[in-house]
Formats: sequence, structure tokens, C-alpha cells
Amino acid sequence: MSADLYFAVPLLVRDVQPAIHEAIHAKVSAYLNTDAARRDVVPSPEESVTTSYYHPEASVLEDAELDELEALVIGMAKSFLEDTLKLAPRRLEIERAWINIFEPGAQEAQHTHDGSLLSCSYYVEAPENCGCIVFPDPIGARRSYRQFTQTAGPDLLTRSDIAVAVQPGRLVMFESWLPHAVQCNKSDKPRISIAINLRAAPESVAATPVSTEEPEAVSAVSNPAQPAVGDPARSAGKPFLFNELFELRSDIGIDLQPIKEQIPTVVLDNLLKHPDRVREVIGSTPATNWKHEQGGRNFIDYYDCRLRFPIRHPNSLVSVAQQAINKVYGVNTRPSDASVDVNWFMQIDARRADFAVPHSDITEHVRRSFTCILYLNAPDECSGGTAFFRFRPSNSLTFDEGYARAVKDDSRIGETGLDYWPETTGDVWELVGTVDMVPGRLLIFPSEYFHAAHHPVDSFYAFPRLTLAFWMIN
Ligand SMILES: [Fe+2]
Ligand SMILES: [Fe+2]
Repeated sequence: MSADLYFAVPLLVRDVQPAIHEAIHAKVSAYLNTDAARRDVVPSPEESVTTSYYHPEASVLEDAELDELEALVIGMAKSFLEDTLKLAPRRLEIERAWINIFEPGAQEAQHTHDGSLLSCSYYVEAPENCGCIVFPDPIGARRSYRQFTQTAGPDLLTRSDIAVAVQPGRLVMFESWLPHAVQCNKSDKPRISIAINLRAAPESVAATPVSTEEPEAVSAVSNPAQPAVGDPARSAGKPFLFNELFELRSDIGIDLQPIKEQIPTVVLDNLLKHPDRVREVIGSTPATNWKHEQGGRNFIDYYDCRLRFPIRHPNSLVSVAQQAINKVYGVNTRPSDASVDVNWFMQIDARRADFAVPHSDITEHVRRSFTCILYLNAPDECSGGTAFFRFRPSNSLTFDEGYARAVKDDSRIGETGLDYWPETTGDVWELVGTVDMVPGRLLIFPSEYFHAAHHPVDSFYAFPRLTLAFWMIN
């Protein structure tokens, strides 16, 4: 018979992929040689650590351009809160990040990061014998009791502290209240780490440009805005009227932006009246898997999911696309389905290419088809967009016999649904041009043109890439 356990203390220890660590290491090494680092990384007045902690306006993540680390940390923090602590989802942001250099002989006394939500340490350099990060049992009464009764032991339940060994590329995350100390660096090389505090982001920050005049007002919002009464679309999980949530602006301009005079793409900007509200609702709706094939990479390397919304006529978004297609291409169209799809994509593992598997959206038994893509991410989340390609073997920008034959011969060329990232790139696909992702931008193009989601930087770890897609056919 054994007793039940209560009051567990969560601690997350993860090693990032070697390639990602190498990239971070190179950037931190370069940063340490800059004037900014010489100015900001200074010896602590109380401890033996050299740190940028005393320059609160400096952030090592921005100064060393550590976007991948920031995305990784936010992704892990989200999982820590939602999967481990079973708390409701919330947007997280970096409150503060600083670099710590422990020269041989340096150490740090016990402290907490009280005031933040989660904290973590990422180890950039960790030579052998550079010391562990030590977490004493936070239940003080139990620590005294173990000493008095001499019942400290090696088991997790009776340990008086836990020392986590550090190594390059390791990330250790904990709730900010948890006391910890850093052991003495007994190696002959420096131990370099990056400390990060996280907090819940005020809900309005993602979509509202932050005023430079009143930074205090923004950071002082500690209680996220409550949904307005009588405004169901502002709150997650509540019903919404499609045309109301996706209410369109009245002054929409159509811009035919042919890519290199070859691909007749059409762009309608600033389509949405409430892009922030759309992002909030779509981003808080659970998304189900899509293309989840046996032996595939979905839910291993990335989440490729879909949200499908039925459309009822009249639908203002469909009408605008219909008018634009008629005006630009001179074709009368109707929607191919009685629904629109949100493509919900998020990365788990490293990005393996600048774009997803190129493909055409051409379907049989249709005379003409037009792909319509509306970008839904917030301004600060946008990166990449949609890329267009030439299929080298047949020198074609559009679906043709040569492509169909090539896919028959080598299925890896086509989109099999097994992987989001292409196995074949340079020999087969030539990138012709791209359209940038902009919140509330509707991109329209004839479906026969080869295209793919464009991911030029490593993003979409901390939040999904959200695009709404529908097809108009003749
Ligand atoms: Fe710390
Ligand atoms: Fe497509």
C-alpha cells in the first residue's frame, strides 16, 4: 500500500536540436564581440557572474537576433502551462532576457525570479565541471524536518535538493517562484547561459500597434481585457455570425500584381474590418488534424490542421472574390464548396525548407478554378507568405502533362500528404516569386499555377500560421 503524492513541482529539461544550438551559439559568439555587448555585459556588483541583467533596456534575444530561441522558449512555455500545469491557453511573451557568463570560479547564490510567470535558462556554453543548476526542496518545513529526523535520501520524495546537470543546447524551465542556485564553475572555460522570464501577454497587444509614447500603459495591463458584453465574437468558444466576424471594409481596392509579368496574382488589401478579432477567434478555436497519413510527418515535425467553416449565402467574403475574379479574369465563378477552410500550421521540429511542397490546386471536371487565400495572422506574427514556382523538368509554371508524368514516376515530387516539407527542391523547383503575408490580405490566383506556403524564416513555433482558403470555380 502506498500513499498518494501531492504538491508536485514541475521542471522541464529539454535539449534542442544540434543544428539549432549551433545557430544560437554562433549568434551569441558574434554578439559578445559587439559594442553593445561590451557596453551591456558587466560584472555583477554582488555576485561573481558577468551579466547584462543590469541593463534592463537591453535584450540579448534582440541584440543577438535569437528569434529561434525566442520561438522555442515560447512554444515550450505554452506546452508547460497547457500540458503540464493543465492551465487554460494564453498568449505568452518574453518579459526579460539577459546573458550570464560564469568565468572559472564563478557561482550564484540562491534566488527566485518572483514576479514573472515562467523562467528558463538556456545553456550556450557548458564545459565539463562547470556546475549544475540546483533546486532546493521548496517546502522549507520539509527540509528542516529531513535534517532533524535524518530522513534525507536519494529518492525524489526525500531529496533535499535536485541538481540538474547542464550541457550546451539544454533548456531548463520552471515556474518563476522556484528557488535555485548555480554551483561553482570548476572548469577552466566560461559557462554561458541565457536567462529568460516570461509573462502572459495583454490580449490586445498582438493586434494593436504598441504606442511608443506610452510604453508604461501597455506593460501595466496585468489583467487581460474581458470580452465586451453582447459581443460574442470577442470571446473564445462563443457563436459568431460569419459575415459579422469577417465584416469587410467598404473601400476595398483590387490590385493586379503579376509576378514577374508571368503569374497573374491579384491582391486585395485591408479587407477585414476587425482583423484582431478574427485572429483571436480563429486562434482560440481547436483545430483538427489534416493529411494525417500513416507514416507521415504530421504531428511529428509539425501540426498541419484544418478548421472548416460552413458558409451560408450571401457570404460577403465569397462575393468580393467573385467580383474581383470577374473584373480581372473575366470569368463568372461560384464557390467550389459550401465551406471555407482555415489552414492551421505550427512547427514542432526544425524547418527543413523555405517553402512547403509545391503543388497546383487544379481539380478535374472544372473549367476554371481560382485559389483564394486570406492571411489571418497578427502583424507581429507575419513572416513569409505564398511562393510560386516553375517546374523545371517541363519548364512550366502551371500544371501540365510533364508534371503529371513526373509525379507518376517519382511520387516524392507531388504532394502526398506524408510531409509538409518537400524532399525534392532545387533540381525540380525554381522559385519564381512570392506574395507577402499581410493581415487581412486576400490573394487570388488561377489554381493551375504551382505554389506553396512560403517560410523564409524559422517561425510558427509559438503560434500557428493561419490562412483562410476557398476556391472559386466555373
Ligand atoms: Fe536564476
Ligand atoms: Fe494550394
